[in-house]
Amino acid sequence: MGNDVIGRVEKRLAEGRLGGGQDKIDRQHGQGKLTARERVEQFLDEGSFEETDGLVEHSCTDFGMGSKKIAGDGVVTGHGRVDGRTVFVFAQDFTVFGGSLSESNAAKICKIMDLALKVGAPVVGLNDSGGARIQEGVGSLAGYADIFLRNTIASGVVPQISAIMGPCAGGAVYSPAITDFVFMVEETAYMFVTGPEVIKTVTHEEVTMEKLGGAMTHNSVSGVAHFASRSDTECLASIRKLLSFVPSNNAEQPPVVESSDPVDREIPELDAFVPSDPNKPYDITKLICWAADRGEFFQVHEHFAKNLVVGFIRIGGRSIGVIANQPAHLAGVLDINASVKGARFVRFCDAFNIPLWIVEDVPGFLPGTAQEWGGIIRHGAKLLYALAEATVPKVTVITRKAYGGAYCVMGSKHIRTDVNLAFPTAEIAVMGPQGAVNILYRHEIQAAADAEAKRAELVAEYQEKFANPFVAAEKGYIDEVVLPRMLRRKLAAAFAMLGTKRDTMPTKKHGNIPL
Ligand code: HXC
Repeated sequence: MGNDVIGRVEKRLAEGRLGGGQDKIDRQHGQGKLTARERVEQFLDEGSFEETDGLVEHSCTDFGMGSKKIAGDGVVTGHGRVDGRTVFVFAQDFTVFGGSLSESNAAKICKIMDLALKVGAPVVGLNDSGGARIQEGVGSLAGYADIFLRNTIASGVVPQISAIMGPCAGGAVYSPAITDFVFMVEETAYMFVTGPEVIKTVTHEEVTMEKLGGAMTHNSVSGVAHFASRSDTECLASIRKLLSFVPSNNAEQPPVVESSDPVDREIPELDAFVPSDPNKPYDITKLICWAADRGEFFQVHEHFAKNLVVGFIRIGGRSIGVIANQPAHLAGVLDINASVKGARFVRFCDAFNIPLWIVEDVPGFLPGTAQEWGGIIRHGAKLLYALAEATVPKVTVITRKAYGGAYCVMGSKHIRTDVNLAFPTAEIAVMGPQGAVNILYRHEIQAAADAEAKRAELVAEYQEKFANPFVAAEKGYIDEVVLPRMLRRKLAAAFAMLGTKRDTMPTKKHGNIPL
């Protein structure tokens, strides 16, 4: 009897493992996609996957569904390990009813999300689905809403990561949208609320799936996705890498890795790296890499709002979230997209105890009607709010320009940044010299015999007086003016000192970030 039951279980699990059958698996492979099970196996440490609900079936009887049941019902769920740490995972199986979401398979996803929240482990969702299972109607919609609720409750408690590895359309997009990071695979993944056909009918626009919602569209235009990968395999490896920087939950510290890169390593190249000419661009990622353990910088949102760079490094084996103006793109100006990008990243780091390094070279906020009408006031306020709210260790380094409101926003002392350093090339002022002189000395310039010569003279005078770190340092807004070559050791010392930092916000239900 016992053997009989075991045999039956084995048989049904084996059927389930085949998903929608060999033809559909071949079709999946033909499209350059792995199957749900192959993805899970590749993603987790070898042999660590423990499947849950492998025998679950749907309970729909409409549209002839009563006779079409496949064990597992189109989603593979369970837990395993990534670098030895527990991670929960669900993978939609496109070979079974197009990976569509049924009431039963939503319940499977909810079950692992509930467990993940209880044990404090990340949830990784591998999405590849035709959306709500049409045959199930509102039962499927209810399943989505159950997942959205859990995404929201788990936000800031355990890291949630979504990979889009096939279709993800309609309301289904809102689960990934709530999660912390969205990965997309080039050419096979797409996301949209309404597809090309509906758009054509409603707005008469003609657009391809790729252009509407492909990986690069969401990585570079909409900012919905944070990472683009060339293949399933690359995508899964990138998720593992991301997880290596973050703790399993908000009560833990990020993992510490062995590092042979000395924390007191000097960087002689940096002394002459930042051009003193404020109009000359340079690539801030080089500076970040020089400061980081083994020169490694894991960029997040690399293709979006390139005027602000965000991502993870390690110093002395400890994770640090970096947010940096990028003078090599739009002079590192803050605009709507950069503000939103920065704010979201800062909030992730703060939620998960990851210290922040703010690197500042910013001429201000981008002027123009497009920005003003687009709401730069409320979007810029998001970045300000996020940085002011953050209680993790915060260290700011001003490499060159720190002008105007952007000075306040980008980790100034006044929004409780713990350590504020400046290079000798730092210029901390209300605005750039040209703008300041034009306002302060308008009448003198107009009255001068040679207006341009007078302007140049006044600009030089202003620069001499304000285009340096001294006024701010004299007031204690800058703790130390440091030689660029000392950057890494200064950062290491600051973050080591701040390792035991405790800071809190007043008790409240939650703040009201200007969304
Ligand atoms: C049930 C589905 C399905 C769905 C696909 N299938 N989507 N079954 N419900 N939503 C089935 C197909 O019937 C087919 O079954 C198999 O999956 C593979 O689909 P194909 O169409 O052959 O694949 P492909 O050509 O690659 O096209 C993929 C697709 C297309 C573009 C995703 O399947 C499609 O348009 N599906 C419907 C998308 C949709 O409108 N979903 C509902 C959106 S509304 P057989 O047996 O023939 O192999 C929604 C609301 C969510 O999701 C709201 C949340 C709040």
